[in-house]
Amino acid sequence: MEKFVINGGKPLTGEVEISGAKNAAVAIIPATLLAEGPCILENLPNISDVTIGFNILRAMGAKIRTINNNTFEIDTTYVTEPVVPYEMAKYMRASYYFLGALLARFNRASVAMPGGCNFGVRPIDQHLKGFNALGADYTIDHGMIDVKAEQGLLGTQIYFDVVSVGATINVLLAAVKAKGLTIIENAAKEPHIVDLANFLNSMGADIMGAGTDVIKVRGVEKLNSTTYGIIPDQIEAGTYMVMAAATKGNVLIKNVIPKHLESITSKLVKMGVTVEEYDDSIRVISHGNLQRTSVKTQPHPGFPTDMQPQITTLLAMAEGTSIVTEGVWDNRFQYVDELRRMGANISVDGKVAVIEGCGALHAAPVKATDLRAGAAMVIAALSAKGTTEIENIHHIERGYGDIVEKLQHLGADIKKVIIPDGAELKQAL
Ligand code: EPZ
Repeated sequence: MEKFVINGGKPLTGEVEISGAKNAAVAIIPATLLAEGPCILENLPNISDVTIGFNILRAMGAKIRTINNNTFEIDTTYVTEPVVPYEMAKYMRASYYFLGALLARFNRASVAMPGGCNFGVRPIDQHLKGFNALGADYTIDHGMIDVKAEQGLLGTQIYFDVVSVGATINVLLAAVKAKGLTIIENAAKEPHIVDLANFLNSMGADIMGAGTDVIKVRGVEKLNSTTYGIIPDQIEAGTYMVMAAATKGNVLIKNVIPKHLESITSKLVKMGVTVEEYDDSIRVISHGNLQRTSVKTQPHPGFPTDMQPQITTLLAMAEGTSIVTEGVWDNRFQYVDELRRMGANISVDGKVAVIEGCGALHAAPVKATDLRAGAAMVIAALSAKGTTEIENIHHIERGYGDIVEKLQHLGADIKKVIIPDGAELKQAL
């Protein structure tokens, strides 16, 4: 078992470089299946979700060549079987993007029901509704989702009943080579959707309106090789902003798009944190004395749900009573029990958390219950005096590349340790 051991209470200072966006990368990696020839992807984050995406492609016959730490050449020319088995899909929710990409390339796909973070029911009815409207039939049997378009895919008009990042991406992937015009209405507007559309357009796709709630896709026959750099990760950047604020630090966060961070910046400023914006970097300075505020998570450009555990943790250290309302997921407060071990005073009723700020948290053994919950534990541990051990860090490594090295560079006392599990201990005795 691996743990993070953090000796907290030290202000973070210096500079940190943000990596490429996880949620763009996990869509763009399957999208390389659509190119006739190799694609070069730059600025890929060093995270396990990228490794899983690569492993799925390799298992299907793709060739992946490392150019440097963050740049890879992906050649999917020899992929012949449009199947992603359970052993591959179980590790990553976004493995369902292979449905849209394989459907566009082969007119059929078979992908196991995906795994990923567990925060309530995570339906995919809108993805299937979109495929269906494009002319594909689907069945779900023994945990496998099979989609097939016997007559090929045909452009159409699709209105999503809920704003869904995943459904927007999956239907975009399927529609780029469909015959005619597809209009996606009530589309999600997250930065990673724009990034996927830019990637596909750089291969020769004809997509307009990504970043608004109506996306128009005119199908093309062929998509070509391309070289493409992935956008900076909005949520990794936001997490380091909160880390700086929580530790009374002074951190220059580089390689960011400040516009993507506006909803986070405005809440931090309300809490009394200084945020200075530059062209592609942002400086966060805090002297403590954090003030209360209220936050409601919403689809982009609202406050991101993927920053909810981090901001709740910061509010637990503020003065006064704050309210955080989760507007996207049914059950995204499971980590609160862990924060309570560190002294947080939070009560949760359904999708609403009431936080009585306690000034400071204290060290305690905790675990990461999912990716962003894990980030919240790291924030709490960095701020709390004493030694905190965080278990289940594989969740954190799904989305935060080189986190130990980045935090050590900012002056944090953090290390990753390997604890022998029960079997190994027995052998050692
Ligand atoms: C994406 O998940 C992200 N994952 C999540 O980030 C993020 O929390 C979420 O979008 C919201 O921003 C990736 O991009 C890989 P949705 P996704 O479809 O696509 C309901 C992280 O920490 N819904 O936008 O699965 C659903 O239940 C991860 O990086 C349906 O009802 O989210 C939810 O309430 C975790 N039917 C809402 O829509 C559907 O068919 C939004 O879900 C699909 C979704």
